[in-house]
Amino acid sequence: MSSRAIGIDIGGTGIKGALVDLDSGELLSDRLKKPTPEGGEPDAIVAVVKQLVDELAGETLNGDAVPVGVCFPAVVIDGHTMSAANVSKKWIGLAAEELFEKALGRDIHFVNDADAAGVAELRYGAAKGERGVVLLTTLGTGIGTALINDGVLVPNTELGHLEIDGHDAETKASYAAKERHEWDWDKWAKKLQRYYETIEALFSPALIIVGGGVSKHHEEFLPRLVLRAKIVPAKLRNNAGILGAAALTSMGHVAGHGGGPLHSTTAS
Ligand code: BGC
Repeated sequence: MSSRAIGIDIGGTGIKGALVDLDSGELLSDRLKKPTPEGGEPDAIVAVVKQLVDELAGETLNGDAVPVGVCFPAVVIDGHTMSAANVSKKWIGLAAEELFEKALGRDIHFVNDADAAGVAELRYGAAKGERGVVLLTTLGTGIGTALINDGVLVPNTELGHLEIDGHDAETKASYAAKERHEWDWDKWAKKLQRYYETIEALFSPALIIVGGGVSKHHEEFLPRLVLRAKIVPAKLRNNAGILGAAALTSMGHVAGHGGGPLHSTTAS
């Protein structure tokens, strides 16, 4: 049997999970989704994650032995959540990995959500085999970023919080900002243009990958952007967090997470 892992992606709006085939990057189960509890408090989120893991482990043979990877929308250093943009401030400084491990009664692998998505695109998707600087951005409740150079991830980059024109960028260019302000594609694309041209001026990526649920509508906004870098939709769409969290259970550590640098063995 090929190697499998459960991936859980915690977001500001929803918590998703699935059983993943680590060789192919395909989902071996339904993609389960539950709303993120109001307020995003630690105990409430942990309870939802436990339900999802129990359900997914219950669906498969030897489910208790299947590795579990969890990704979360915050800076994650050595298993601690060090920020909280779209969840309760109680997460700041919390030994989150340990909290999940106690509740689930098993070891987990715990990383930032955008970093997980970046790893997934690197291993199975749009960044596979790409050299040079690649920046993955997820446009959702916030903006998540994964910065990759020659297949090596620089974790916890948090470029969704760049200050642009006096504002935290994600308050203007995230998908949630589009929804909140009821902007049409054209108006939102102007905010994205400002965001990505700033990113481009600072980091000169060769490739920008756009993920998050809205990436399925990429034809509505990517053609409106004028950039030097190639900009493409994420191949794994909104499953990248699940796939990356699952894949990281077999890939060792991400730098800044208690180990050496993570290097994809598939990027060549
Ligand atoms: C958080 C990041 C996260 C991103 C996407 C931001 O608000 O600060 O840690 O990756 O949202 O969820």
